[in-house]
Amino acid sequence: MSEAPHGAPIKTPGQLIAAVIAGFAVPIVIIILLAVYVNNTTRTGAGTDLFSDASVASRIAPVAQVDIRDANAPRVFKTGEQVYQAVCSTCHAAGTAGAPKFGDAGNWAPRLAEGYDTLLHNALNGKGAMPARGGTSPDDYSDFEIGRAIIYMANNSGGKLEEPAQPASGAATAAAAPASGAAPAAAASGAQENSQAAAAVAALASVPQAASAPAAGAQSADASQAGKALYTQVCQACHAAGVLNAPKFGDKAAWAERLKEPMDTVYGYALHGKGAMPPKGGSTASDADVKAAVDYMVSAAK
Ligand code: HEC
Ligand code: HEC
Repeated sequence: MSEAPHGAPIKTPGQLIAAVIAGFAVPIVIIILLAVYVNNTTRTGAGTDLFSDASVASRIAPVAQVDIRDANAPRVFKTGEQVYQAVCSTCHAAGTAGAPKFGDAGNWAPRLAEGYDTLLHNALNGKGAMPARGGTSPDDYSDFEIGRAIIYMANNSGGKLEEPAQPASGAATAAAAPASGAAPAAAASGAQENSQAAAAVAALASVPQAASAPAAGAQSADASQAGKALYTQVCQACHAAGVLNAPKFGDKAAWAERLKEPMDTVYGYALHGKGAMPPKGGSTASDADVKAAVDYMVSAAK
């Protein structure tokens, strides 16, 4: 008798099948568990702050946010640095479009010589490729805040200007004046509007006089040359990259929309301004040159 002295553990076909399956499955489960164990450290490295609270919050933040302002609350003015960072640095940090560069004392010196009032006037009304108020609206940044931004830039670029006096809080916004009901406050904001209107009229009055000088030189060249030259000097500051939603140079779709209007209307917009587009792009060029610049842009978008 050669039968084994012990009882064999597998006695039925069912037990055999179970043993075979377990023979495969158990090592595989162990391998999987080991792999998970080995890999199971807290990862620190590039990209892992993807799941930090702050970055998750910033990803799921709503696109539109409502900023509720209490018209009666005392207005907190932004500092010059805040306005500069939010608005002016777009052009003034690197000297884009010929803007006097932040910290470039040589470029700022002749401008500072004009005096603060002139600088403020030019910043509020625009000058050359400098859009009025840096392209912002008076609701976002008051004259006082624009002034502070100028002082911040100027004083970091070799200037020594005094901070202008902070306006009374009631006069700061037109909305706050009626709410406060105070007569002096209303009068003050009225005066502010008058002075803005006067400044605008003064700016318009200065255009034709200044226009005669460059016009004489430019007209000798042929019209398309003059158009291209003016575009390069002035219009491309906004139209090359589509700054402030200007129709981009060569962008057929953007121009096709606008060219549905008669050409005279389009010239009119270029000459007299439209939305964020300043009259003549803020330049003092002649009407003929501005029209030539329009023709040059239009022909590039056909
Ligand atoms: C889209 C570009 C752009 C933005 C944005 C911009 N500037 Fe300018 N800025 C210019 C350019 C270009 C000039 C040069 C204009 C010239 O001398 O013809 C200029 C010139 C100026 C000058 C000098 C004016 C003078 O009398 O010579 C002041 C002051 C100024 N900017 C203030 C500001 C302030 C304040 C802001 C922000 C609220 C701002 N700018 C935003 C482009 C810009
Ligand atoms: C400060 C930025 C800026 C400069 C500089 C500028 N533009 Fe514009 N331009 C705009 C913006 C913004 C619009 C879009 C206006 C809108 O549709 O509200 C525009 C629109 C136009 C249009 C289309 C108007 C229409 O809707 O039919 C013409 C034409 C034009 N500009 C011509 C010129 C010419 C010519 C110059 C140079 C002499 C120039 N622009 C300089 C910002 C600028």
